[in-house]
Amino acid sequence: MILVTGGMGYIGSHTCVVLAEAGYQTLILDNLANSHLEVLDRLEQISGVRSQFVNGDVRDAQLLDELFLKHNITAVIHFAGLKAVGESLEIPFEYYDNNVTGSLTLLGAMKRAQVKNFIFSSTANVYGNFAEVPVAEEAALEPNNPYGRSKLMIEQILADLHLADSEWNIACLRYFNPVGAHESGLIGENPQGTPSNLMPIIASVAAGRREKLQVFGDDYPTPDGTGMRDFIHVMDLAEGHLAALTHCLTQGGTVTVNLGTGQGYTVMQMINAFREASEKSIPCDIVARRTGDIVKSWANPAKAKVVLGWQAKRGLMQMCVDTWRWTHHNQQR
Ligand code: WQD
Repeated sequence: MILVTGGMGYIGSHTCVVLAEAGYQTLILDNLANSHLEVLDRLEQISGVRSQFVNGDVRDAQLLDELFLKHNITAVIHFAGLKAVGESLEIPFEYYDNNVTGSLTLLGAMKRAQVKNFIFSSTANVYGNFAEVPVAEEAALEPNNPYGRSKLMIEQILADLHLADSEWNIACLRYFNPVGAHESGLIGENPQGTPSNLMPIIASVAAGRREKLQVFGDDYPTPDGTGMRDFIHVMDLAEGHLAALTHCLTQGGTVTVNLGTGQGYTVMQMINAFREASEKSIPCDIVARRTGDIVKSWANPAKAKVVLGWQAKRGLMQMCVDTWRWTHHNQQR
């Protein structure tokens, strides 16, 4: 059985679909801080099998010990955590407590239970603002916000655990910009509260829930002046987690890889692709740059291909078509 912390969330839920299709049983631990209980039924609708679910927090050591005692958990995929850059600057303590204390508490329970296969949800945010593109894993690690710093701290903890005890099999997966939704339209990005990232905002404008999209700057040194990002379909990301799990269980050791497509698209290219996918106008206002934004960010995906035998397959239009289907389906509720 695979313990999936934060498995009711965006990337966690899509990963549970891929795990179920690969024949794994999953136990989801989620405190529902940024997810919804109905995802459990939708996962069953998609995959035909029901994940076990425990409503709880990774900082609850006693609960974790009970779970490891009760279930034959062979590996852990750890998504649970806070992940908004701007918010992390406002409430750093909560970010370090959820992300670092949560990970340490989880790793402590794993150690006590002698379960040492760990897949960690990390982020390209650990590179900070100055990485050369395409970004390779060897680039300088200079996060400039509590969110990115919390993720780097955990990566460093994991590296030290493996150095001290080579029985720890670990994969740190650095995501670029996850977007899209499962083709069924039953699950997708559905954060609590107001999203700050581009794709859900584009979708809400297309769905008429928001009047306009603000484009944060069109004076960057890029083809059309807007920021460039490595947008990666969430199902490609989910498949990357399965590849990492397989690597942990078969080859072992420790790996850190970028999960990106290697292709950068501008904000305006994403908006135009969404206009085509949704046949909606998506009115925009060009406004000032957002503080802290980087100009260009896309992955060098070579290492994941060599080490995990994984690469992204889905293109920009599929990201938009799948997001739009999910937005429509969700709106019908
Ligand atoms: C993308 C582009 C904006 C909103 C963040 C985190 C990163 C990861 C993904 C967790 C930029 C522009 C956005 C809007 C806009 N999260 N934009 N108008 O900042 O690249 O990355 O999310 O792992 O760690 O830092 O994503 O979607 O916020 O921005 O013009 O209303 O869209 O300026 O160029 P970002 P984003």
